[in-house]
Amino acid sequence: MHRFICVFFVTVAGVCAAVPGNEAGPSPSHARARERTALLREAGRAIFSDPAFSASGRQSCASCHDPARRYNPPNARDVQLGGPALRDPGLRAPPTLTYLDRVPPYDNHHFDSEDEADNSIDNGPTGGLTWDGRVDTGAQQAAIPLTSKFEMANSAAGVAAAVRKAAYASTLRAALGNDALDEDAHAFAAVARALAAFEDDDAEFSPYTSKYDAFLTGHTQLSAQEKRGLALFNDEKKGNCAQCHRSQRGLDGTPPALSDYGLIALAVPRNANLARNHDPAFFDLGACGPERKDKAGQTEYCGLFRTPTLRNVALRSTFFHNGKFHDLREVVEFYVTRDITPERWYAKDARGKTIAYDDLPARYHANINRDAPFAEQHPGAAPRLNAQEIDDVVAFMQTLTDGYLKTNPYRERRMTDRSSNLVGRTLSASSRPRSQIWPHPRPR
Ligand code: HEC
Ligand code: HEC
Repeated sequence: MHRFICVFFVTVAGVCAAVPGNEAGPSPSHARARERTALLREAGRAIFSDPAFSASGRQSCASCHDPARRYNPPNARDVQLGGPALRDPGLRAPPTLTYLDRVPPYDNHHFDSEDEADNSIDNGPTGGLTWDGRVDTGAQQAAIPLTSKFEMANSAAGVAAAVRKAAYASTLRAALGNDALDEDAHAFAAVARALAAFEDDDAEFSPYTSKYDAFLTGHTQLSAQEKRGLALFNDEKKGNCAQCHRSQRGLDGTPPALSDYGLIALAVPRNANLARNHDPAFFDLGACGPERKDKAGQTEYCGLFRTPTLRNVALRSTFFHNGKFHDLREVVEFYVTRDITPERWYAKDARGKTIAYDDLPARYHANINRDAPFAEQHPGAAPRLNAQEIDDVVAFMQTLTDGYLKTNPYRERRMTDRSSNLVGRTLSASSRPRSQIWPHPRPR
């Protein structure tokens, strides 16, 4: 059920082609296009929180991606319940839906030209949606079982019936034409299009209004502790967090996404609470399966999960793909003591011996990341961050919550730059053509 929903959400562009519009008439005026987007967005916002689209009739997108928590899970459950009776536990913790416009399409060999000076470095598997990057925003989606009878046949008709009954059916008709909901396929596409319009609302999903953004654009100062936390977060010999959770603006001024969206094996401890983990032979191996199918048997992908953004992370009560942790501080403790006190993190076998990296079979241990903060750590070594430093890093992560500012300060800056004819923040940025300065104009 849920996989369908997500695929449905991200394949909107493809689905939209099926929506009847006024292609016959003259191209709509700019004002009309804006009005239509506003209507679709209004309907999409309502659909997102409408339980009528679920088999149970009691669950909506917002049940797992809470708008009040920047689309993080609404509670501290390890994973959320779903299915027809809301009794089926999921396998993974819902990610935030903020900043998904920054996730590149999945790529086995990602060469980053936007954020790094050197674009000859192969960053390895990167991008894609979900924790294992198995769906994309590109043409790839179309191949995913959107049209599979099992997932779609029921749902398309059910979705169509739900939307026709909804209070906002008239809003959708006003946007797309009086006959837009008459046929199931068109009604389904209209719902997809409305959700897409909602998701495309930058002010809602990619606001860049955190205290850290205010700091980066010169609107505020960080506290002494937050500043120490940022330095430890960036320091390659200390936290080294920024290696994966990018914290600096790109060369073209792009605000940091607090992720490079790389797929990495951190060897997060097994979560014994998950129903599927009651089977000792079951392992969620991320990119090599079982949810993702295309890399089954390719051992180098086993244990890899996509690096999440840390924007709005302080609004979560559940961390990592399997919801194993519930406290931000504990997450950082895990990073700095994984290989120093493994007995604290991993389960024990029948003889009381700690099982090394207990959620990843030994044959895949070569995939486990050993860069700092893990590098040179072994029982008896000193953790790279002490208790005070861990608190500092947590304090820094708390500056990543949106809502500190009212509006996106980078856009404001860009306007100022234009009017005063002052270009860019750094030499390299100012030597680029204006069109490469963030935010890039979006093709519509
Ligand atoms: C029962 C809980 C639940 C519901 C309901 C739900 N989701 Fe999700 N969502 C998840 C989980 C869990 C994941 C991660 C799945 C994975 O990694 O395999 C996810 C992932 C996603 C992603 C990918 C995010 C990323 O970081 O790549 C998108 C987009 C998404 N959901 C949108 C939606 C939309 C739109 C709806 C409603 C139509 C919805 N979800 C309903 C639990 C839920
Ligand atoms: C080598 C890359 C890498 C480094 C270095 C790294 N992370 Fe992560 N981070 C990841 C990946 C990958 C995940 C998801 C792992 C999973 O769920 O299996 C993650 C997840 C997290 C999460 C959980 C977010 C959520 O939504 O559940 C937090 C918090 C976090 N990292 C903070 C940090 C901090 C703080 C540091 C530095 C001490 C750090 N990370 C260093 C790659 C990295």
